[in-house]
Amino acid sequence: MMHLQLFLLLFLSLAFGEKLPLEPEFDGVQGILRRGANRGDKLQVFQSIWGAIRSDFTEDTDKVKGLYVQLGNYIRDEMQCSSGSTGRTACELQHEVRRHLRTLMSQRLANMLNADESIQSYGIYIAASIEPPFVRDILTATVEDIYFHRPLHQLVRQFEQIHADRDEVSFKMMIEAELALFWRYQALHDSNAEFLFSMAHMASKIRTHHMYASVTPDLQRRVEAMARSLPPVLGLLFNPQGFCLLSRSDREYIYTAITDEWNYGLNGRQVFTWHEKNYTDSAGLIRAFVHDQSTGRPAFTLRGELFKWYYFVDPTEDNRVAALRSGSPSSATSSWSISYVGDALIFRQRDLTMCATDKRDGDRRLIRMLAGQMHTPPSEQCQWLPIDCATSM
Ligand SMILES: *[C@@H]1O[C@H](CO)[C@@H](O)[C@H](O)[C@H]1NC(C)=O
Repeated sequence: MMHLQLFLLLFLSLAFGEKLPLEPEFDGVQGILRRGANRGDKLQVFQSIWGAIRSDFTEDTDKVKGLYVQLGNYIRDEMQCSSGSTGRTACELQHEVRRHLRTLMSQRLANMLNADESIQSYGIYIAASIEPPFVRDILTATVEDIYFHRPLHQLVRQFEQIHADRDEVSFKMMIEAELALFWRYQALHDSNAEFLFSMAHMASKIRTHHMYASVTPDLQRRVEAMARSLPPVLGLLFNPQGFCLLSRSDREYIYTAITDEWNYGLNGRQVFTWHEKNYTDSAGLIRAFVHDQSTGRPAFTLRGELFKWYYFVDPTEDNRVAALRSGSPSSATSSWSISYVGDALIFRQRDLTMCATDKRDGDRRLIRMLAGQMHTPPSEQCQWLPIDCATSM
């Protein structure tokens, strides 16, 4: 009992002083605990601290976290849950403290997200102080709190900001946050195309990040499961190896011509579809790059990978699609908005839609931007099926 009174004195004097750092406070506790208190007394000490926190410091995350960590050490080293009624009491106490800590941390995160504040440093504080499964619980609770209060595609980007450059712990936490958001979306059977675009883009960024190879196999497995649950058409759009496009109407692929015979001298190449159905080769390989994601529907550039030239629209040639050497296109004629219907992608610039049109000769068809195709879905000549043609080359 003497130890306990001594402790309470110490705790209260520290607690009512000016803002004191956490560690000395609990070093003090540890000192007392080390000086030979028996295991039962220690549990009483913890219970007293918890009582004091609950009555006077219920919002003090540092104190709750300190108690949680100390209790964890105690249970690990001295008092397993299975060791009789004291052990059981210790674990019940830890559970209660954990639940309170989860509430404090997840509400704080949710409030920051709601206020559009950066959550990076608070995220790192959480990730650095508690074990990964608990971090995951906190993120799940945060997503539950915030889900209906923010545009989902913005949450994807806010969670992305948890990741601090070159910091692996925050990289993993960022992934956990995106996963929690995605599975919440799935569980609610929600339907939101902007969110799916953002998430597919995010999944691609995560999987191609150099740190991804070093995250745990379990986390990788869960990211891969998420990627498989996204619409396949978006998986192909964000495939870092690229894709080919077949018109739904004729199943002819888009390709960039080998020769520079376009009217821009060395800077332009023609773009056509080729008459052989389902045929693809390296002249058709395209990659899509997000160049502006300030809105839910990002703006893209499209690059033919064989020559690394960018698709653009020439208004002086009746809105024909062609390819320009990198650096040449003006942003207005080479910036695309992309949507999808089922397994097809739709490419637009303002109120114009990219479509396979009239035949140039026996082998080739012109591609133009057509007006009057803003309905969903547009006609089949304006729907493009992405095909995985990178792996077979
Ligand atoms: C092209 O591929 C589709 C889907 O695999 C198939 O149904 C169709 O018969 C193919 N067409 C030709 C002409 O090979």
